[in-house]
Amino acid sequence: MKWDGLIHQYRDFLPDIKDEHIVTLNEGHTPLIKSEDLSQRLGLTVYLKYEGLNPTGSFKDRGMTMAISKAKEKGSQIVMCASTGNTSASAAAYSAKSGSMRCAVIIPDGNIALGKLAQAMIHKAKVIAIKGNFDDALNIVREITENYPVELVNSINPFRIEGQKTGAFEVCDMLGDAPQFHAIPVGNAGNITAYWKGYKEYKAAGKSQQLPQMLGFQAAGAAPIVLGKPVEKPETLATAIRIGNPASWKMAEAARDESGGLIDMVTDDEIIEAYKILASGTGVFVEPASAASVAGLFKLQKQGFFEQHKGANVVCTLTGHGLKDPNNAINNVEKPTVIDGDIKSVLKEIGL
Ligand code: F0G
Repeated sequence: MKWDGLIHQYRDFLPDIKDEHIVTLNEGHTPLIKSEDLSQRLGLTVYLKYEGLNPTGSFKDRGMTMAISKAKEKGSQIVMCASTGNTSASAAAYSAKSGSMRCAVIIPDGNIALGKLAQAMIHKAKVIAIKGNFDDALNIVREITENYPVELVNSINPFRIEGQKTGAFEVCDMLGDAPQFHAIPVGNAGNITAYWKGYKEYKAAGKSQQLPQMLGFQAAGAAPIVLGKPVEKPETLATAIRIGNPASWKMAEAARDESGGLIDMVTDDEIIEAYKILASGTGVFVEPASAASVAGLFKLQKQGFFEQHKGANVVCTLTGHGLKDPNNAINNVEKPTVIDGDIKSVLKEIGL
């Protein structure tokens, strides 16, 4: 199958853009992996939309191809974003691919995973670390982009949401219809907004028959939507979703309410447990924030939420690759033992 990126694939559903302006790294078309292990544990049929396999290792590439293409069409020379890491990695890579745009990113100092920082820097973005959190960074970016000729590429940029909604299209194309439930981590709340928009548009176009219930999950230390008020000092080891005042708050609530779903929270311990189960039981390595969707399913299952829905199709968006954040993996497993380099010692160690 020929795949030239998601704009070419889903053009009929996306804002108009000429070929010459399209900036693509052939993002999208990520696998929808059936997890026998999770299906068995949860009594559901669980599919994992592994967005870590996008070109920069996260779902952000879906929105970024659209936003950067539109910036190129407009003749922008500089793009800018605030980021917990993945948006900055993606913006930096797509700016590099554009061949004409510079990229500046603002990140919360000390709270972004190493891999993401490496990405932004190697793609030659101007990386600015601030003493503050994501919400502070986003306020600065909003103000600058309102007053200077700089294009904002956070998910407040509507083209980001447009690109990201293609995740829902791919799920429907691969499953033959929308699932009954769609579980997704919630940070700045752009992605839950985008998926819901995608599901609605696909159904309206006759491409799918049903709509899923959207199940969003925030980290317990950064759960403003669940608590109903901004969190001034958000804290979670899932740094990607360490956000206290999401930009798409209202739209996430609309996705929740229109779909008859929910937005709940999971603790860091629950996130890490799900993170390890995904890696060891299904063979899929994600970053901690991504595991929030699976942690949420375990929480709901314990509460009996799925009692009436045995075997139902559930899709989890696994938003980012595990290699983005190797420190979290290493800190949560047993370190390898160092032994003498001879066959006898190795056989003993394996238990043979
Ligand atoms: N998972 C990962 C791996 C993320 O990087 C993000 C957001 C989310 C989930 C939440 O998605 O914000 O659309 O609700 N990361 C942004 C960033 C904030 O700057 O990379 P959301």
